[in-house]
Amino acid sequence: MQHPEQLTRILAIETSCDETSAAIVEGGTRILSNVIASQIDLHAQFGGVFPEVASRRHIEVIYPVIEQAMQEAHIGFDDLDCIAVTVGPGLVGSLLVGVNTAKGLALARSKPFLGINHIEGHIYSLWLTEDAQSIEFPVLTLVVSGGHTELFLMHDHGRYQHLGGTLDDAAGEAFDKVGRLLGLPFPGGPAIDRISAQGNPAAFHFPRAVMTDEYGYNFSFSGLKTAVMRQVKRYDPDRLPVADMAASFQAAVVDALVTKTVQAAKDHGVTAVHIAGGVSANRALRMAMSAALDIPVRYPPLILCTDNAAMIGAAAHWHFVNGRRDQLNLDVIPSLQLASV
Ligand code: KG4
Ligand code: ZN
Repeated sequence: MQHPEQLTRILAIETSCDETSAAIVEGGTRILSNVIASQIDLHAQFGGVFPEVASRRHIEVIYPVIEQAMQEAHIGFDDLDCIAVTVGPGLVGSLLVGVNTAKGLALARSKPFLGINHIEGHIYSLWLTEDAQSIEFPVLTLVVSGGHTELFLMHDHGRYQHLGGTLDDAAGEAFDKVGRLLGLPFPGGPAIDRISAQGNPAAFHFPRAVMTDEYGYNFSFSGLKTAVMRQVKRYDPDRLPVADMAASFQAAVVDALVTKTVQAAKDHGVTAVHIAGGVSANRALRMAMSAALDIPVRYPPLILCTDNAAMIGAAAHWHFVNGRRDQLNLDVIPSLQLASV
């Protein structure tokens, strides 16, 4: 293995969902640039991500985004060690834009090419924090995003043990669906986070599913969403107690996430808990998790919670210094998992 602190310079590209992003990451921990073109405004009118619209927008903005990332980092293609891109999981049409662009650049500039797992990217967003120097294995990482709710025990760089995950909806998906039920703007997560500050989290008691031992470290949020829907139907739409419902729903999600994560952290004697993915931006989750554990709890800065290319560059660094190189015939894998190794 080469020295992990080798000063690699990696151009990373992320287009798996509704953010077009390009970043230059140095040595796996330093962000030289991280340009993110969000499509949220474009999809808000549909109340969710419209896949065909997403891929078309990626095509329009990918080159300007890459150019801006190179300019902000003050480097040229000759300075790059590698070009890395998200190959999955994600929307097939969106992934294809990033992967084909990265392949074209790697071929034209004779650069090594790496296809990176988006979930691993979220895990590595923690290595882009100021506290990264103090990370010691094993750590427990909760990845909570629009597409995933997974608990990984991380034994070393690139060595993951999958402990559990959602049996149905992802946590972010539940936030987005409940946001829609409550008439809040898309995406529901940040909107529920904001309005919950004015609500009473004990106003409604929504179910905390799969809390019994037989479910292990797995989660389930679809019953919770149904319970909110039933409650919403009891009200005249004009008199819906939105803030109380949002706060009570959020409390149920946070309770489930914290209970399972704390249990897993105790069972496996980890040095720290990491939380990554869009939902890790949630203030109630951050507060509750930190209060429930007496080991360090780390979160990425807000801009690195939701999708971005810097986290892909951080993950790519460890593969690159370990000698991994991918062939240019590598394809996108929309349902890619992060396997236990
Ligand atoms: O990681 P991400 O950008 O995309 C996926 O990989 O899925 O996560 C997006 C998800 C959305 O479901 C969004 O509602 C949720 O993260 N989210 C939040 C917050 N900010 C974003 N959920 C709860 N509280 C937030 N503050
Ligand atoms: Zn993501």
